[in-house]
Amino acid sequence: MSNQAPAPAPAATIEEALLSRRSVRAFRPDPVDRVVIERLLTLAARSASNSNCQPWQVHVVTGDAKRRLCEALVHAHDHVGPVADREYDYQPPAEAWPEPYRSRRRSFGERLYQHTLGIPAADKAARRAHHRRNYDFFGAPVGIVVTVSRRPREGALVDAGLFLQALMLAARGLGLDTCPQASLIDYYPVLRQHLDIPDDQIIVCGLALGHADPDHPLNRLRTPREPLARFATFHD
Ligand SMILES: Cc1cc2nc3c(=O)[nH]c(=O)nc-3n(C[C@H](O)[C@H](O)[C@H](O)COP(=O)(O)O)c2cc1C
Repeated sequence: MSNQAPAPAPAATIEEALLSRRSVRAFRPDPVDRVVIERLLTLAARSASNSNCQPWQVHVVTGDAKRRLCEALVHAHDHVGPVADREYDYQPPAEAWPEPYRSRRRSFGERLYQHTLGIPAADKAARRAHHRRNYDFFGAPVGIVVTVSRRPREGALVDAGLFLQALMLAARGLGLDTCPQASLIDYYPVLRQHLDIPDDQIIVCGLALGHADPDHPLNRLRTPREPLARFATFHD
């Protein structure tokens, strides 16, 4: 008998997919079949978009292409540093966030670094070492980069968000897991060069895709949600 925890079961309903989706930050190396990736992307493309303009493009990296891209990203992380001019500001500095978002972000950071990884707030080097794993897609066999047309920008970014969520839920339906990764856009010139992404496309987000490593402590992280009354207003 194996001591491994069982792999998370595929979600059979939308509700199960929503409840079982979480950001997975440690993957088993097992590959994902090309037909499965194609099916997920085809399902995600059923997402709604502005007048059905479907502004998304995706780049899928596996095998040697993924290895080469990850080497370049890690090199940029270690020796160059993040770009000063992000293409769009998904991740403004901590002080730019008003309440209650600032507190929620801080609480997530504590949950991830202190409670899950055992890294104290002051240990910047250990935090950086964890963050660096983003640039290996957390060991996932598949890396995905989603881009959208630069014009019109805001609407296309909304549509890209819908596409990403659909992709993550579809993955759960097939027993796969994901982690969305805005951290990749800190090194967008590397992505642009390696994936030959034209200038009229904004790089929106990366996504790690694969089989969660059920034994890895990082995958024990669960994030809470605010109660309904904190975000919904009913007008009768
Ligand atoms: C657009 C987007 C980008 C994200 N980028 C990263 C990232 O670069 N690295 C990471 O570890 N998590 C990233 N996350 C995951 C969030 O931290 C996570 O969704 C949030 O804490 C809620 O946790 P859950 O996804 O497990 O429910 C991102 C999430 C979104 C929606």
